[in-house]
Formats: sequence, structure tokens, C-alpha cells
Amino acid sequence: MSSLFNLEGQVAVVIGGTGGLGGAMADALASSGARVAVVGRNAERGAAAVERIAKLVGGRAGETVGFYAADAIDKASLESACDRIHSELGPVRVLVNAAGGNRPDATLPPGADFCALGLEAWRDVFDLNLVGGVLLPCQVFGKKMLEFVAKTASAEQADSCSIINIASMSGMIPLSRVVAYSAAKAAVLNLTQFLSREWATRGVRVNAISPGFFPAEQNRGLLYNADGSLSARGGQIIGHTPMSRFGRPEELAGATVFLACAKASSFVTGQNIVIDGGFSSTTI
Ligand SMILES: NC(=O)c1ccc[n+]([C@@H]2O[C@H](COP(=O)([O-])OP(=O)(O)OC[C@H]3O[C@@H](n4cnc5c(N)ncnc54)[C@H](OP(=O)(O)O)[C@@H]3O)[C@@H](O)[C@H]2O)c1
Repeated sequence: MSSLFNLEGQVAVVIGGTGGLGGAMADALASSGARVAVVGRNAERGAAAVERIAKLVGGRAGETVGFYAADAIDKASLESACDRIHSELGPVRVLVNAAGGNRPDATLPPGADFCALGLEAWRDVFDLNLVGGVLLPCQVFGKKMLEFVAKTASAEQADSCSIINIASMSGMIPLSRVVAYSAAKAAVLNLTQFLSREWATRGVRVNAISPGFFPAEQNRGLLYNADGSLSARGGQIIGHTPMSRFGRPEELAGATVFLACAKASSFVTGQNIVIDGGFSSTTI
């Protein structure tokens, strides 16, 4: 079994590896043997992630893990990071697209009408979650993966490349008020399926993970009050979650490593693994 879940010698890129969920996924990939490129805009958080991962695996920064600054909605910036990663770490076999998030003015205030939603906020959320979250990274890193497979392996062998897009449970069931984000994540799921079909015979598998509610930078204000107590909305969410709690970032590790490892998930593409404590499985 251990050979199925082994990424020894492979390079994994985690865009959004400077964040809460992406950071935990980067930890999981590194612990499974991958050399990890953490990609994001925030150099301070990037350095902290590199230090944490190097310590976790007992490796050296620059050899087993590195930070590569890039803005996911800027193709040239991604291309430059991609070139550096290839020359410093080697060919990329795994791409995790974890850059994403919401912005407050793209969420309808309580009682507000849908018609009041601003277009600028809507476009920003789509830009981040769909364009930067999937489209551009898949074009930039996916192109290199296709070239790698064409040069080195038969697409039918279990040594394919893997792309994991982070969608959201709200892409399947739109959350009240969170309109632009839910719609953008629904598009992430659709694009995941499109790409899985497009690249299925070319050795690149494309899947999604849909987390439910995991406290992170981007949603802390929604889930908790300033004094650290649960907000009304946070309480409603836990009340609707069969497991009666929020998720912990490390609970994404198993699905991440499964989807990343070509031997473990060689016939899995176009799928969406939902990790939400049962939230999407029940109604009141
Ligand atoms: N937390 C949850 O409950 C939850 C639930 C469902 C889905 N998700 C999804 O999970 C993913 C990770 O979110 P999180 O909860 O871990 O939030 P987070 O801690 O705020 O992380 C967001 C990440 O996105 C990166 N990012 C944002 N804009 C970027 C840009 N233009 N270019 C490059 N990187 C960018 C940030 O990196 P820099 O700041 O360094 O650029 C950061 O690493 C997102 O796609 C989010 O939508 C989260």
C-alpha cells in the first residue's frame, strides 16, 4: 500500500500554499515525499510555510521546498514562477489550485436584494476563484504537464500528472447571501469536469476537493465574533453540520494525497471529493 501513496521525487505546486487550507495540503504532499513549491503573493507567509515544511520533513529549504511569489490572476507572473520551479525543483507532477476566497461586498447584506449586488465585486470574485483559481494555473502548469507526459510516459501508465482544484461545498448548494462566491465555485466544478475530459487521454487527471466550513483568514469574521465566540452564522452552520463542528485543515490531507498519487487514483478523473462533516448531505 505504501507504494500507492508515495510522491517521492515528484514536484508538487500549491498555489495558495501560503494560506490555511493550501498550507495543510502542502504539508501533506511534502510528508508523502514530494518536493513542494509554495506559491502565493505574501512573501512573509511564504517564508513561514517553507520553514514549517522544511522542519516537518527534515529537509532543506530550496531543495525539498521553496516559495515562489506569483499573482494567480496574472498569467505572466505565473509563467515566471512556473519557469523558476521547473529549473530549480524539476518537472511539476502535481498542481493544487488553492488560491481563492470571497470579498465582503460580493456577499448580500442580510435582507438585501439580489439586484443590489455590485458588478465590480462579482467580477473580482470570479477573477480570483475561476480565472486565478483554475483557468490560468491550468493553462500555465497544465501545458508543462502535457509536455512532460508526452515526452516521458504513456498516458495510460500510472505515472500521470494530477491537478486538484479547490472548489467548495457552496459550489454545489449555493449558500444564502454568498452569491458570487458560490457561483464562481460552481464554475470551478464545471471547469474541472471539462478539463478532465479534455486531458483524460493525455496523462493529466483533473479533480476537485470541496471543503465545507474550515476556519481560515478569509472567513474568520463570518464564523466568529471579535471576542472569539461563535457568531450567529457560525452557530447556524454548526447546527446544520451532522458532525457538529467545523473542519480542521489537516482533514484535507488524505484526499489530497489520494488524488495526487498516480498509483492510488490512476482511474480517477473529473471527480469532486466533498469534505464537509456531512453538511451537504442533509436538510432540516
Ligand atoms: N476555509 C473554508 O472554509 C473554505 C471552504 C471551501 C473552500 N475554501 C477554498 O479553499 C481555498 C483556500 O482558502 P483558505 O480558507 O485556506 O483561505 P486563506 O487562508 O485566506 O488562503 C487563501 C489563499 O489564496 C491565496 N491567494 C489569494 N489571492 C491570490 C492571488 N491573486 N494570487 C495568488 N494567491 C492568491 C492567498 O495567498 P497570498 O495572500 O499569499 O497571495 C492564500 O494562500 C480557497 O480557494 C477557498 O475559496 C475554503
